[in-house]
Amino acid sequence: MKLIVNDREYEVDADPEMPLVWALRDLVGLTGTKFGCGAAQCGACTVHVDGQPIRSCVTPVSAVAGQKVVTIEGLTGKVAEAVTKAWTALDVPQCGYCQSGQVMAAVALLTATPKPSDADIDAAMDGNLCRCATYQRIRAGIHQASQTLEG
Ligand code: FES
Ligand code: FES
Repeated sequence: MKLIVNDREYEVDADPEMPLVWALRDLVGLTGTKFGCGAAQCGACTVHVDGQPIRSCVTPVSAVAGQKVVTIEGLTGKVAEAVTKAWTALDVPQCGYCQSGQVMAAVALLTATPKPSDADIDAAMDGNLCRCATYQRIRAGIHQASQTLEG
């Protein structure tokens, strides 16, 4: 089946029920998307499909055939740049395992809501767990990125 990932087309020989995260990692070779819980509970596997954040561990690859999938490797644009800059400036990641999912969720939030309140951030990021508990820095990073976008 045809997958469109980061604006490139891939023909993948996948069982239609294969979770997208494995198709991305094992068939397309993009390993920035991480596998955590496998049950839509942690957000480590977050990618964008047609601009919306989704859990790739519970999304069958057949469900996104022909749609535009963006992974951490393919994030571009001013929101992504602002988030990346803020993450670097504030040293947001600790072990890093959850962070591609955090960044994907943060970019989706700021794209939809350029000036999010703490409540907006809590609501949007609630399902993205961090075992290193970097939550305060993630929140600060989103606010800093928001200010960059404003200014
Ligand atoms: S690995 Fe997909 S939500 Fe945890
Ligand atoms: S930075 Fe380690 S799990 Fe989030």
